[in-house]
Amino acid sequence: MNFPSTVRICEMSPRDGLQNEPGVLIPTAIKIELINRLSQSGLTYIEATSFASPKWVPQMADADSVMKGITRLGGITYAALTPNIKGLKSAINAKVDEVAVFSAASETFTQRNINCSIAESLDRFLPVIEMAKQEGIKVRGYVSTVIGCPYEGDISPSQVAWVAKALSDMGCYEISLGDTIGVGIPLSVKRMLYAVAQEIPITQLAAHFHDTYGQAIANLYAVLEEGVAVIDSSVAGMGGCPYAKGASGNVATEDVLYLLHGLGIETGVDTEQLMRTGQWITEALNRTNHSKVAIAKGYYRK
Ligand code: HMG
Ligand code: MG
Repeated sequence: MNFPSTVRICEMSPRDGLQNEPGVLIPTAIKIELINRLSQSGLTYIEATSFASPKWVPQMADADSVMKGITRLGGITYAALTPNIKGLKSAINAKVDEVAVFSAASETFTQRNINCSIAESLDRFLPVIEMAKQEGIKVRGYVSTVIGCPYEGDISPSQVAWVAKALSDMGCYEISLGDTIGVGIPLSVKRMLYAVAQEIPITQLAAHFHDTYGQAIANLYAVLEEGVAVIDSSVAGMGGCPYAKGASGNVATEDVLYLLHGLGIETGVDTEQLMRTGQWITEALNRTNHSKVAIAKGYYRK
């Protein structure tokens, strides 16, 4: 066992959690309140929004107003997705602390998600990373569909390692490995991690697991054993990718905290405060709370 002593939680709910909400646009004030409540819980990293094309992701069209409306607390990184230079310029204008670019290990998924091939996406990110560097803004890189793709099926670990290395070589300080449709099990996730870890130190990797098949906690335990110390999760298990049909939310942050704190791994995050926030946002959106821990603790009944 090689468990880390501390884990950084990257809270995804304002971006991954809300980007896929169907129907009416969520009021900007709710997004701002969600981020402000999350900021009170001891989290140090919040992915606040996405500067994608509003034609592609309408729920994130108010990214600028969200960034400018939140109350920023010291010690918290407020990050945003930036798929291209236009998004980066808007993000800089909105004074984001950090940005993220996103590609995938599957060609078809990349095409559906960002309208280009994997190679083209990398070309597109080069100037983004360059400009961010000039502005002193760190860039995180996502690789989606690291286990399976909704269009292509199984994805080979070597393909994931190739894309992850490319993003790392281009200057991404951390690579977040996305099981976008949550099909992994500990065995497949470890195989994928071993392939990537041959190219990039484990300390520069993050786990971004959706819980579609209920395997995310088991998969996180598997990568924690290997020393992964950064976990992406969403309060109340909110979210999904608009271009991955059937993808359900990220693993619930509350459930991740239960596992980590039970293992004696420190996060600095207040689980009770976070459970209250999870209850508040699911009620505000009239959604189901997908955190097993919050339900077990009586925070949510439906
Ligand atoms: P495109 O249509 O090829 O780009 O989209 P374009 O350059 O031709 O632009 C089309 C229109 O969008 C133009 O407007 C642009 O100005 C505008 P028009 O001239 O027609 O009026 N536009 C923008 N507007 C504002 N901000 C921008 C921007 N860019 C273009 N940044 C593009 C290409 C990449 C822009 C598009 O495909 C896109 O935005 N995709 C984003 C998809 C997305 O956000 N998916 C969800 C996030 S990824 C995810 O959830 C996975 C993750 O969680 C990890 C995991 O789970 O695996 C990270
Ligand atoms: Mg995701």
